Amino acid sequence: MAVAVEAGSASKSGRPFEVRPLHPALGAEIVGITLEEAVAEAMFRQVYEVFLEHRLILFRDVDLPPATQVAFARRFGEVQVHVMNQYHGYAEHPEIYLLTNLDADGNPNGRHPDKGTMYWHTDGSWRPTTGHATMMYSEVVPDEGGETHFADMHGAYEGLDPEWKARLSGMRAFHNLDFSRTRRHGHDPMTEKQKAEVPPVDHPVVRTHPETGRKCLFLGDHAEWIDGIEYEAGRALIEQVNALATPDHLVYRHAWQPRECMVWDNRALLHRATGYDPATQRRVMRRCTVLGDRPY
Ligand code: SIN
Repeated sequence: MAVAVEAGSASKSGRPFEVRPLHPALGAEIVGITLEEAVAEAMFRQVYEVFLEHRLILFRDVDLPPATQVAFARRFGEVQVHVMNQYHGYAEHPEIYLLTNLDADGNPNGRHPDKGTMYWHTDGSWRPTTGHATMMYSEVVPDEGGETHFADMHGAYEGLDPEWKARLSGMRAFHNLDFSRTRRHGHDPMTEKQKAEVPPVDHPVVRTHPETGRKCLFLGDHAEWIDGIEYEAGRALIEQVNALATPDHLVYRHAWQPRECMVWDNRALLHRATGYDPATQRRVMRRCTVLGDRPY
């Protein structure tokens, strides 16, 4: 069952921090404690309850060096070392996936680092054990664009009519990183070795959240085909459900400020970045994805 969490002041909720909802569907800012305090033994359980309830938590004005980011992400679980090692921005911290458009002199290089991030997806759905949480830190943000949008997959499932729910029940989709990478960023494809490490894997289209028990839609841009359905018909179905899953009222749009740290629940949300001009603007984001369970 979901943990009940009261929004509002610290004193009203009995918590030593304040929870400020960011959007009716999802997301909350945590105010009144530092991120360091939030992940400490004494506080983490209460912070984690807010994470489960709101599916996304935000801390502002955070100094988060790479080593600290990895250590804090480990509070949520095992941190993934991404198969696409060209994104390992720090040799000593391969757990960090660095999204930057800056060259060695710190100037915009004109290239978006990962165009796949601009389509609705959930991190690590191409793995047998998929993403539990992602912790992202904003080092440098553009003046325009470069937002991240989040869509509530529990709300999306609940909003389906009974016919759709019946149609999707028991259905499984194959998720394939090579498919989404080639489709969205094909000028810089995965190597044969990388592809061999992450073959396509099937997951339920409707999953049960392992901690809240809520049903959530689980597709996104890494989903390539549907088990037992002709390829093109499955492709059309995936596109249709991805569009149905992201109506405006279920989407929180985050316009980043520098030095923000966000942690979101990949089991219950889709996300996507918005574009920016990589020739004139600077954007540097660091991401750690925490591994979760095999969806059921
Ligand atoms: C991601 O898709 O994981 C990154 C999103 C972003 O760059 O805003």
